[in-house]
Amino acid sequence: MPPDGPLLRVEGLCVSFGGLQVLNDVSLDVPRGGVVGVIGPNGAGKTTLFNAVCGFVRPESGSLSFNGAPLRRPHPHRLTRHGIARTLQGLGLFSRLTVLENVLAGTTHRSRTGVVGALLASPWAQRHERRLAEQAREVLAALEIEDEADRVCASLPYGTRKRVALARALVSRPRLLLLDEPAAGLSETETAELAGIVRGLRENTTVMLVEHHMDFVMNLCDELVVLDFGEVIARGTPAQVRADPAVQRAYLGEAVPGGADA
Ligand SMILES: Nc1ncnc2c1ncn2[C@@H]1O[C@H](COP(=O)(O)OP(=O)(O)OP(=O)(O)O)[C@@H](O)[C@H]1O
Ligand SMILES: [Mg+2]
Repeated sequence: MPPDGPLLRVEGLCVSFGGLQVLNDVSLDVPRGGVVGVIGPNGAGKTTLFNAVCGFVRPESGSLSFNGAPLRRPHPHRLTRHGIARTLQGLGLFSRLTVLENVLAGTTHRSRTGVVGALLASPWAQRHERRLAEQAREVLAALEIEDEADRVCASLPYGTRKRVALARALVSRPRLLLLDEPAAGLSETETAELAGIVRGLRENTTVMLVEHHMDFVMNLCDELVVLDFGEVIARGTPAQVRADPAVQRAYLGEAVPGGADA
């Protein structure tokens, strides 16, 4: 396992839905410990890229490697075992469950008791479940929402629910965290707090995020990849991407990334 190689490598990824080419020969690297942003206009294929990495959609061609090894046929249920976790665009929470229950849903691979253990409710199984709950509470505390642990998600403000979604992804202690529009719907203050949280993660966790909020992206990301109509049209540091004419054209009619009205 090359210690210096990228944590995630995407090579020549092609995805189409019923004849519509949604990703066309997409290649990118996510370096260890970095924060890589994927930006692009609506429908550019950003979420589809995440879905392909996570095994929610099957690419027609292309390859993925994670931590130096091929990531063949990734499957959503096995992701946390690989050390990958994601948040969904929107919330994707179980609104009638409590915060703690939602976060525990992110621990499936770490729950080793299985059906038999749960049925027997052995002391070992109970101890294990208690430990998972403790870990979930630790993540909630780190995100400063531990007081909400026993509240039903539906009763909480949107910004808090976004944090619950983040906590659910973090509880599996992923090496790679994929965030799909983590700042969407957040206030300015909440967005700034989120940037601080993501910066704080980078010691242990590599982050790839999709976001339309350009100030957030430009200030937080080390590198950006720009998708347009399923193709990578630019990549580089935020400053390089901001100055790229192809990016300016792709955003015609929208706020130019990092521009005065972004
Ligand atoms: N399961 C699917 N079946 C058919 N078409 C799909 C499917 N998922 C996505 N698409 C189409 O693929 C294209 C890319 O969608 P995708 O959700 O990846 O875009 P995006 O860049 O995440 O956009 P946004 O910024 O609006 O979230 C769109 O045209 C979308 O309608
Ligand atoms: Mg999307």
